[in-house]
Amino acid sequence: MAAHDVLEQMRSAHRGVLIVDFGTQYCQLIARRIRELSVFSEICTPEQALKALGSGRYGALILSGGPRSVYERDAPRLDPSVLDYGLPMLGICYGMQWTAHTLGGEVVAAHDAAGREYGNATFSHDAGADHPLLKNVPATSQVWMSHGDEVRALPAGFEKVGQTQSCAFAAAWNPDRRIALLQFHPEVTHSIYGDKVLQNFVFGVAGLTADWNSGSIEDDTIAALREQIGADGEVVLGLSGGVDSSVAAMLIHKAIGDRLHCVFVDNGLLRHGEREGVEALFGRNFHMNLEVVDASEQFLADLAGVSDPETKRKRIGHRFVEVFREAAKKHRRAHFLGQGTLYPDVIESVAAHGGATSTIKSHHNVGGLPEDLDMELVEPLRTLFKDEVRALGRSMGLPPEVIDRQPFPGPGLAVRIVGDITKERCDALRKADHIFTSEVEAAGAHTSLWQYFAVLLPTVHSVGVMGDARTYENPVVLRVVESNDAMTADWSYLPEGLLRRVSNRIINECAGINRVTLDITSKPPGTIEWE
Ligand code: XMP
Repeated sequence: MAAHDVLEQMRSAHRGVLIVDFGTQYCQLIARRIRELSVFSEICTPEQALKALGSGRYGALILSGGPRSVYERDAPRLDPSVLDYGLPMLGICYGMQWTAHTLGGEVVAAHDAAGREYGNATFSHDAGADHPLLKNVPATSQVWMSHGDEVRALPAGFEKVGQTQSCAFAAAWNPDRRIALLQFHPEVTHSIYGDKVLQNFVFGVAGLTADWNSGSIEDDTIAALREQIGADGEVVLGLSGGVDSSVAAMLIHKAIGDRLHCVFVDNGLLRHGEREGVEALFGRNFHMNLEVVDASEQFLADLAGVSDPETKRKRIGHRFVEVFREAAKKHRRAHFLGQGTLYPDVIESVAAHGGATSTIKSHHNVGGLPEDLDMELVEPLRTLFKDEVRALGRSMGLPPEVIDRQPFPGPGLAVRIVGDITKERCDALRKADHIFTSEVEAAGAHTSLWQYFAVLLPTVHSVGVMGDARTYENPVVLRVVESNDAMTADWSYLPEGLLRRVSNRIINECAGINRVTLDITSKPPGTIEWE
C-alpha cells in the first residue's frame, strides 16, 4: 500500500476538521489552531473537498478566507454538495461570503459596501452565555478584520449573532444546520477571543474529541509504518542529526527495528562533535543500525579552489547524492527510502499544484536526494507541523540538543567560509564556532535565539599585535539572530561579558585568527548565512 494511503487510513481513527483553502494567507494558522486543541485537522483545495469528505474522516468543515470576491469570474468555487454532508461548518471571511451567496443570502461587493475593513475592530454581541459559538466570549471584544465584500442579507435559517461598527453581520449562526459564519478571523491572535470561538466550534458545535496528541500520533504512525513497510521490508534513511530526520528515524526504528538502515554522511563540513554525537546517540544509545560514511576527502576535493557560493552548493549537492546512492546500494533488500518531509511541504505542494500527488516537494527536505533511486517513500512526519515533531521527539526521549538544535544548512561550514574551502579553514572555523556556541549555551543565552554561529573570512587579513609581535591574520564574524521562520530575522545583542569571553578565547585558542567582529545586519537586507 502506498505511504499516502496508509497515513490516510491512520487518520480515520481521529475524526478531524477538514479546512478548505480558498487562498487565505492564514490557512496553515487555522490548521495549527485546531491541532492546538488536540484535534486533527487537514487542509485541502476546493477541488479536493468532496472526495476528502467522502472518506468519512472528518467531523467538521471549515471554509477559509481568501482574497477574491464571490462575484469575480475566477473566484474559488466549491461544489455546493459539500453542504449535503450535513457536517457542522464554520465559514470564515470569504468562507462566510461563499456560504451566504450559495444559500441565497446577499453579498455586497466592496465598492458598494461601506468600503474595505482592515485591522482591529470591536465585535459586540448579545448572544447570551450559553450560545454554542460565543460561550465565554465577552459582550464586546477586539477582533481582526480583513475584507472587502461583506454579507448584507443572511440566507433563510440564519440568525445574526454579532456586529462591529462597520459590519452589520460580523457573526451569524444557523442552529438547525449547525453552520457558523464569521466575517472576522478567529485564527489570528489579534482576535482576542478567537481561540474561544474555535474551541466552541470544535467541541461545542461539532462535538469532536481532543484525541490528537504525541501519544496517539506515535501509536498511529508506528501502526501505519508497519502496515506500509510490511513484515520484511527494509528502509534506508539519511540521518543528519537534525530534529526532522532524528524523529523520523526514531519512529521507523520503533516500527521495524533493525530493518532500518540509517546513513550519516560526514562531508568534512560539519560542526564540532556532530558526527560523534550522532554515533553516540543513535548507534550506542538507541541501538540503531547506523552507517557513518566518511566522504570528507571527496567533498573537500570537489570544493578545492571554488569560492563561488552557488558552485559550492551545487558540488556539495551532487556529491551528497553520489555518496548516498552508493550507501543505499549496500542494502539491496531495502525498497523504501525514509524522509522527514513535514506537513507544510505537503500543503505547499497541494496548493501550488491543485491536488497533484503530495510527494512533489518531498526531496527538498533532504537536500535533493536522487529521484531515480527507485524506492518507495516512507514519510512518517508528513502530517505534522514542526512543533508537533518537536513534541513527539521529546516524548520519545530525544535529548534537548537534538530537539532544540539550531538550523544548520545542508552545505554546512562551506557557506560560512567566505572564499575557497580547505581542511585547515574548516578546522579553524569549527574550533572558533565551538568556542562561541558553547559559551553562549553555558551562559543560557541561546534560548531565545534562532541561530548563533561563527563565520570565517579567510581572504581578509588585518594587522594585530600579540605578545609584542605583529600579526597579519584573518577575522571571525559572530552572527546572532532572532527569527520565527528564517524569512526575516533581527540581529541580536549578547551580554557584554559573554562577548568579551568569546573574543578572548577565540583569539587565544584559534591559530590564524587575530580579530573577532560582530555582524549587526538584519534580514532583509542581509541573509542569515553569509553565502
Ligand atoms: P538565509 O541565509 O537564506 O537562510 O537567510 C535562511 C535559513 O535557511 C538556512 N539555510 C539552509 N538550510 N540548506 C538548508 O537546509 C541550505 O542550503 C541552506 N541555506 C541556508 C539558514 O541556516 C537559515 O536558517
